[in-house]
Formats: sequence, C-alpha cells, structure tokens
Amino acid sequence: MVKICCIGAGYVGGPTMAVIALKCPEVQVAVVDIAAPRINAWNSDHLPIYEPGLEEVVKECRGKNLFFSTDVEKHVAEADIVFVSVNTPTKTQGLGAGKAADLTYWESAARMIADVSKSDKIVVEKSTVPVKTAEAIEKILTHNRKGINFTILSNPEFLAEGTAIKDLFNPDRVLIGGRETPEGAKAIKALKDVYAHWVPEDRILCTNLWSAELSKLAANAFLAQRISSVNAMSALCEATGADVSQVSHAIGTDSRIGPKFLSSSVGFGGSCFQKDILNLVYICECNGLPEVANYWKQVIRVNDYQKTRFVNRVVASMFNTVSGKKVAILGFAFKKDTGDTRETPAIDVCKGLLGDKARLSIYDPQVTEEQIKKDLSMNKFDWDHPAHLQPTSPNSIVKTVSVVWDAYEATKDAHAVCILTEWEEFRKLDYQKMFDNMQKPAFIFDGRNVVDVDSLRKIGFIVYSIGKPLDSWLKDMPAVA
Ligand code: UDX
Ligand code: ADP
Repeated sequence: MVKICCIGAGYVGGPTMAVIALKCPEVQVAVVDIAAPRINAWNSDHLPIYEPGLEEVVKECRGKNLFFSTDVEKHVAEADIVFVSVNTPTKTQGLGAGKAADLTYWESAARMIADVSKSDKIVVEKSTVPVKTAEAIEKILTHNRKGINFTILSNPEFLAEGTAIKDLFNPDRVLIGGRETPEGAKAIKALKDVYAHWVPEDRILCTNLWSAELSKLAANAFLAQRISSVNAMSALCEATGADVSQVSHAIGTDSRIGPKFLSSSVGFGGSCFQKDILNLVYICECNGLPEVANYWKQVIRVNDYQKTRFVNRVVASMFNTVSGKKVAILGFAFKKDTGDTRETPAIDVCKGLLGDKARLSIYDPQVTEEQIKKDLSMNKFDWDHPAHLQPTSPNSIVKTVSVVWDAYEATKDAHAVCILTEWEEFRKLDYQKMFDNMQKPAFIFDGRNVVDVDSLRKIGFIVYSIGKPLDSWLKDMPAVA
C-alpha cells in the first residue's frame, strides 16, 4: 500500500489530500501539521477552512484512508511520498526583505524529513516556492541523508479557493517537475500514477524541476496581470464614460483573449498573486534583469493604485471627510465562497478609511470577528506565518471597528456602504429597506460590480460602481489617487 504524508494542513494540503484519498482508495493519506487546533478542527465537524464540497469529501474518507494528525515525525517516517505544503512568507527583514520568500518553514521541514526517515522517499514541493528551491531542499536532504535516497519533485497546485474541490476533480492540468535522471523519471511516474486515478493522461504534464517551479509563478503572474490590466482600464472608463463591463465583454469575446479573469474589482487579493509576483520580481533582479522585474512590479503597483483609488472615491464623494461617519463594509474575504482573508483588498480599504477616521461596521458571511480584527492590526506580510508564530501588534484602531452578522445591521444608520466581496447574497439584498435605514445622502460604493446601478439610483442611492459611468454627484467630486 502506497503511503502519502502531507506536511501542512492548510488551504492547499487539506483539500488536495482529501481528494487524493477519495480518488485513490488503496492509498493511505496522512495530513500532518504542527498546529494542534488546526488538526483538531480537521478531525471535527467544523473544518478549519470553508470550501464548497470539501466537507462531503472529508467525511467520506476520514478514518478510512485519510487521517489528520499532529504526529508529524511518525507519519513522515512511514510515508513513501511526502508532500510539503508549509508556509512560505515574504521576508520582512534582511536580504530580499519585502520580496524574497522566507524559506524557514520549508528548511525546517526538510531537515526533519532527513532526520526521521528510515526508508527512501519522494519529496514533493507543493507550496509555491521560488524557482530553484527544490535544488536547495535537495541539498539539505542529501547532505543529511544517512544512506537514504530522496528524490525531489515539484508539483505546484493550481486550485483556486472557493472552487478548490471542483478544480481538483477536474484540473486543467497537473504539472510534475523532476530531475532528468532515471531516479527522477521513476519518481515522476510514481506521482503520475497517483493522479492518473482520475486525471486523463494528456493533462498530466511532466517537465524539469525549474520549469515546473517557474510555471507556477508565471501562471499566477499572468492571471494577476489580466486583472491589473482591466483595473487600469476601469480608471480610464470612469474618466471617459465607458463601462468596464462592456469593454471586458467586448475584448473577452476575442478567442485569443478569452472571457475569464477580466472582471474589474477593487483589487486582487489572496495568498498567492502578490507573493508570487514579488518572488518573480526578486528572481529577475537577482538574475540581472531589472527591466523584466519592473514590468511585473507594475502589476502590483496598479493593484495598490486600485485600492487607493477606491478609498479616495469614498472619501472625496462624502465631502472629503468620513471622520466619525459610519461606513458599512459588506464582504471581507478576498473573494466569494471562501472565509480566507489573506491579502484581501478589504484590509487596505478598511485601513484607508480608518486612516480618515471612519467608524466601520463589517459584515462577511464567512469571516469571524476575531479574524477581521487580527487582520486590521497585523503588519504587512505577517499573516503568512503559522498561527502560533504570528506577531501581533496591539492596535487601538480596532476600537472603531465593529463586526456584525447581518448586512442590515451593518448598514443601519450608516452614511455609506462599501461592497468589497462579490458574495451572491449581496445581489439579493433588500436595498430599499437598507436605504430607508441609512443616513442621507446614502452612498453605495460597489468594488465588485454586484449591484444593479440603475435600480439603486431609482431608490435614491448615490452609486459608485467600479469602472462604470459616474453618478453626476461623483463627477463633481473628482478623486485623485
Ligand atoms: C489563484 C490562482 O487562480 C490559482 O491557480 C493558484 O493556485 C492560487 O492563486 P486564488 O487566489 O485562490 O487562486 O483565487 P483567484 O480566483 O485566482 O482570485 C484571486 C483574486 O483575484 C481574488 O481577490 C479575486 O476576487 C480577484 N479577481 C479574480 C478579480 O478581481 N477579477 C477577476 O476577473 C478574477
Ligand atoms: P497554504 O495556503 O499554502 O496551504 P497555509 O498557511 O494554509 O498555506 O498552511 C500551511 C500550514 O503548514 C500551516 O497550517 C502551518 O501550521 C503548517 N506548518 C508550517 N511549518 C510546519 C512544519 N515544520 N511541520 C508541520 N506543519 C507546518
């Protein structure tokens, strides 16, 4: 029986291993983590992450061929294939600060694998890591190997949160990178055999190690670049009276461009896009390619510009001050159908509004008060450390923030509403009821283009919807970014 162990029971490790267990009943899968609360949650009725369809898969396999445990060393020692899916934060100090990946957790996982192993193992890089990490890990393993053979593979994960189970069931492709040696080829085949249980052979792409690692960074950079491109257009649309949704639709029908990832928004978030681009930028700089580095840096700059632009619109529209005014925030997660808040644009928008002394009332269907308050008081990049190692900076700002469990409560007596996540339920709210209970003039700032602008204007709202023709009110109050 093949035994798989995954180090790191997070957004990638948990769902990926659950699906492997479901699709490969004869394979035994153990997911291990140093965070006991996380493992306890995986073993309970309240999984630590919200992901449509995940609960069903976990319930089907847990206790049969899927196990969650804190006994990291035991399961690693027993495994034939070890996936590593631990945190890879951006460095905040020292060489490469603000860009380079901090491989502390990866390195300690690799040393532990070398330490406890008594049989040959395939070690699979699953968390996104900078190009050539596999080489570094290989060195750590071989220099500490005590006669054991380790073969390293890169198998980047392309699932998107909110659709993780769907993506894992039916991936566009599975990418496996390995050394071009007989051992490398053997290891690639072993991993390919696992995925071949449900993924058609022609969708399993095999490359060398560096290509696999770089492809992951490149894919995320390309996707993020599309969003920054359309968001750049949204600013021009607002300035000229075009409608960004119409522009997106028009360009997306070109089969060479395609319709996906062209929705203008308040900015992209999530644990990958910014981090991966920063990594890419750092690698380019290290390789003496400043022009290439600057090209990709611009994708992040436009994303930051979009968030700042949104905050400036809110403040400028409301007579240049939101001081003491109640502003309702609908949606805090970085996208719909997830409770994940990592790098969510809501953090920067909320901090911007708090900087102008607004009082915030926040509602998100999946994000807890504890998480929101933690996010608003954390320093940039600190989110990506294991929970028990996250530095907290005590912050008085959170006193002006309340978190509620209902959209109508959040908007009651508010001067303005900001929609920051495209949750389906925000399309179906009773906006007349909301309007009746708000201060006047009542503003809606839609950062996700979810509301029907015309019907809201009929109710009496002053509406800003990103990239759409401006309300006459807003035209007279231009916001400089
Ligand atoms: C991304 C990649 O899609 C995935 O392949 C990779 O494995 C991890 O990173 P994820 O971050 O989970 O996945 O979500 P994604 O759907 O890519 O959305 C990222 C951000 O872009 C979200 O904040 C989303 O709201 C935003 N977005 C997406 C837009 O603003 N407009 C769009 O058209 C699409
Ligand atoms: P991702 O989105 O890539 O899955 P997460 O942050 O959700 O990232 O998950 C990473 C997990 O890895 C965390 O739960 C963390 O506790 C765990 N982890 C980090 N270092 C180790 C380690 N050395 N051994 C076991 N688990 C680890």
